[in-house]
Amino acid sequence: MRTLHDIAALREALATHRRAGRTIGLVPTMGNLHAGHLALVAAARRRADVVIATIFVNPMQFGPNEDLDAYPRTLAEDRAKLEAADCDLLFAPDVATIYPRGLAVQTRISVPEVSEGLCGGDRPGHFDGVATVVTMLFNLVQPDLACFGEKDYQQLAVIRRLVADLHLPIEIVGVPIERAEDGLALSSRNGYLDPAQRALAPELHRTLCGLRKALEAGEPVEDSLAHGLARLREAGFAPDYLELRAADLGPVGETTRDAVLLVAARLGPTRLIDNLSLTLP
Ligand code: PAJ
Repeated sequence: MRTLHDIAALREALATHRRAGRTIGLVPTMGNLHAGHLALVAAARRRADVVIATIFVNPMQFGPNEDLDAYPRTLAEDRAKLEAADCDLLFAPDVATIYPRGLAVQTRISVPEVSEGLCGGDRPGHFDGVATVVTMLFNLVQPDLACFGEKDYQQLAVIRRLVADLHLPIEIVGVPIERAEDGLALSSRNGYLDPAQRALAPELHRTLCGLRKALEAGEPVEDSLAHGLARLREAGFAPDYLELRAADLGPVGETTRDAVLLVAARLGPTRLIDNLSLTLP
C-alpha cells in the first residue's frame, strides 16, 4: 500500500490507474480505524479494482467546544490495518494541504434540509463541514464509488443528496453498522469511555431494539419514544435526541412503512450515536 500526503502525488497515482481502465473505490475516514472502517474497505474491495482510503481529521466539521485536538491520531496503526485489509492507497493530507488558504474557506457545500435537526440540531455547521470536505475528496480522487457507514445515518443521507443534486457520477454505497458483541456500535469515541461507562454503553442499542419491537407491534410512537427516553435517563445517559423518522429522514406519516430510530446520548462527556431501521405496521 502506498501512502500519499500531497495532492500532486495523489493525482499522478490515480491517473495511472484510470489510464489502465481500473475502477476506483473511495473510503473517507478520520483515522483511528476499527472494524467498522475496515468493513467499508472490504465493501470497496468487493466492488472496485483500486481501493483508496483517506485519513483526515477535518477541522471544519468540529464545533468550537468539540474534541478536535483530543481526537485520536494513530497513523502508524491505521496504516498497518489498511495494509492487512488489502487497501491499495492511503491519502493522509495535513490541514494546510486541504485548506491552503486557511479554514475561512469561501466556498462551502451545504445541504440544508437533510442537515437540519438530529445531529445537525446540536452540532450547527457540522454537516456543512462534512459535505464540503467530502466534495473536496470526491474532486481530488474522482472515484467510481465511495463507501460510507450507516452508523452515521444522517451523514449518509447528506452525502446521497449532495451527489444527486450536483450530478456527481459516483455510486454511494451504504455499509451496515459494525457492532461489538454486546451490541455497541463501534466508534473511535468508544475509546473515551471508562470501564463503567463502557459496561453501560450497550444499553443504547438495547433500548433501540426494545423500541423497534414495540413500534413494530403497533405501540403509539409518542409513548414508545417517551418510554425509551426514560429508560436511557434511568441507565445514566443524557440523551440529546431520540427520534423516529421515515427512512429518507422525512417525517413519519400515515403511510410510512420504512422507518428508522435515531439516537444521540452522552455518557459523561462522550457523545454516542446509534440507529436502527424498522418496518411500521
Ligand atoms: P469517521 O468517523 O472516521 O468515519 C468514517 C466512516 O466510517 C463513516 O462513513 C462512518 O459512518 C463509518 N463508520 C464508523 N463507525 C462505523 C461502524 N461501527 N460501522 C460501520 N461504519 C462505520 O464519518 C467521518 O469519519 C467523517 O465525517 C468523514 C466522512 C470522513 C468526513 O470527514
